Amino acid sequence: SGINWFPGHMAKARREISERMKVIDIVIELVDSRAPYSSKNPMLNDIINQKPRLIVLTKKDMSDDEKTKQWVHYYESIGYQAMSVNLKNFNEYQKIIEKCRKVLKPKMDKEKARGIKPRAIRAMVLGIPNVGKSTFINKLANRKATVTGNKPGVTKAQQIIRVAKDFELFDTPGVLWPKFEDEHIARNIALLGSIKQDILPLDDLFVYVMTYLTKYYPDLLKERYGLEIDLDDSDWLLKAFDHIAQKRKIKLLRGETDYDRVIQLVFSEIYDGSIGKVTWEDYTCVKD
Ligand code: G4P
Repeated sequence: SGINWFPGHMAKARREISERMKVIDIVIELVDSRAPYSSKNPMLNDIINQKPRLIVLTKKDMSDDEKTKQWVHYYESIGYQAMSVNLKNFNEYQKIIEKCRKVLKPKMDKEKARGIKPRAIRAMVLGIPNVGKSTFINKLANRKATVTGNKPGVTKAQQIIRVAKDFELFDTPGVLWPKFEDEHIARNIALLGSIKQDILPLDDLFVYVMTYLTKYYPDLLKERYGLEIDLDDSDWLLKAFDHIAQKRKIKLLRGETDYDRVIQLVFSEIYDGSIGKVTWEDYTCVKD
């Protein structure tokens, strides 16, 4: 969050990450499982070229389990290694390392057959802001604070940390830009709450969210706000506002429903996941 991505930033990020590619065996690409396509960098294929890659769908505790499964299958079906994780759960990390070992076994076996001394796998974590890169690295490095921030590219003073006897990791992630090109994608990223994109006014986004939740997650609306929306009712939006305001005891503003407060409330619950497990896109949306 907070980065303005200028062409110069992008070029720098790209160059620094390409440089690092020379010494790594595998890229661990983090994407947000609530929008596993929109939260991917558009040019990663070009940047990492043919490097082995593991796509890790993070925040699976916040996304639709069924959809997440479909997304993992989708990425596998187009030839990637993929898995979903909750990075707040320490048990997940062994699974990720295990998967990397599996991906690289053929390469390591080949090296061994050629008489090269066994060595540790070297990995790099990479992704757009807020997908969990620092959490991932800090947990494996066993440290508390973030040292990386969200600077484009990679930071200079990089170290390689040994996480297991046969597994090493750069201690700073590669930070890449999100997709900007398409309004749908920008909207999905906005719904993750992590990257400020003023693509749509919040009240338009609110209408979208309510319509989407009514279509795909009506139970969540019911559970969270006791709300049932009938989209055929031309007055549904105003009714929804009034209903949520009453339910959550939002004070009237000059005798009327405080629409801004309702919008803020709903978005904060979407961003922090208290709305429930929601995924904002389906794998059938992928065009390329
Ligand atoms: P980044 O380096 O890629 O920019 O992301 P970072 O690790 O800073 O993670 C962004 C936020 O997402 C953090 O929350 C982090 O805790 C949270 N997060 C990362 N992975 C997961 C996951 O699998 N599940 C859940 N539920 N959250 C995850 P924060 O609010 O910024 O900080 P805090 O909640 O850790 O205090």
